[in-house]
Amino acid sequence: MHRFGSASASASSLPSPPVAAARFGSAPQRGARSLCLTDSACGWHRRRPRSSSASASASSAAATAAAVEDARKGRKQLGATPNLFEYLLANVREHPVLRELREETATMRGSQMQVSPAQAQLLAMLAQILGAQRCIEVGVYTGYSSLAVALALPESGRLVACERDKRCLEVAKKYYQRAGVAHKVDVKHALAADSLKSLIDCGEANSYDFAFVDADKRMYEEYYELLLKLVRLNGSL
Ligand SMILES: C[S@@+](CC[C@H](N)C(=O)[O-])C[C@H]1O[C@@H](n2cnc3c(N)ncnc32)[C@H](O)[C@@H]1O
Repeated sequence: MHRFGSASASASSLPSPPVAAARFGSAPQRGARSLCLTDSACGWHRRRPRSSSASASASSAAATAAAVEDARKGRKQLGATPNLFEYLLANVREHPVLRELREETATMRGSQMQVSPAQAQLLAMLAQILGAQRCIEVGVYTGYSSLAVALALPESGRLVACERDKRCLEVAKKYYQRAGVAHKVDVKHALAADSLKSLIDCGEANSYDFAFVDADKRMYEEYYELLLKLVRLNGSL
């Protein structure tokens, strides 16, 4: 969302954020991965045949292996042909530490949640275009998108990274260190709404340039309203 309105504007009175629209499409399925535009593009949505338990578990293992391979290659979520995935992956500017993180995450539970390399590059590019100094991410997981943004920030930049899962944050922090950007990332290990409220209570309203939300969907309206307070006019959410 580009913040054109006043800080008091409510979510219901504003058009859908373009980034959110891109992520959700026109008819998101409850519980479905948000940017999956087609079933065939994504291991998470790949349909599993209903059959006997032996063949079901074999196909489940195959689907898991395929999802891991998709995540390793960063080719989930985009709804494009395999050739286009390969083209994007071959041409995306992925920092070597981002690549290491993607490969480690591919072996972990929930790896389908990670943004793709192309999405991360888009986020980094948006932060750069805005000349962002102060950013917020809600939903860090193992840190792929936050690391991409932190790498794009100037040395004096700051990214508040909100995540409730301690084990995910351990991975994220390891890669912030490895990429030499740990000093730019302020990790908030708590429920994101509490972290955002505490930023507001600390007088940080209207001081952020850019925010990215990628967490529990049922809370998005609340995140949106809180971030409207935190992100400055003409910042991006
Ligand atoms: C889709 S993943 C984020 C992926 C991440 N942006 C990336 O590119 O790797 C969503 C993350 O949000 C976290 N999350 C969900 N609900 C949360 C909440 N209420 N507060 C903080 N984090 C939350 C989950 O633990 C999960 O790690």
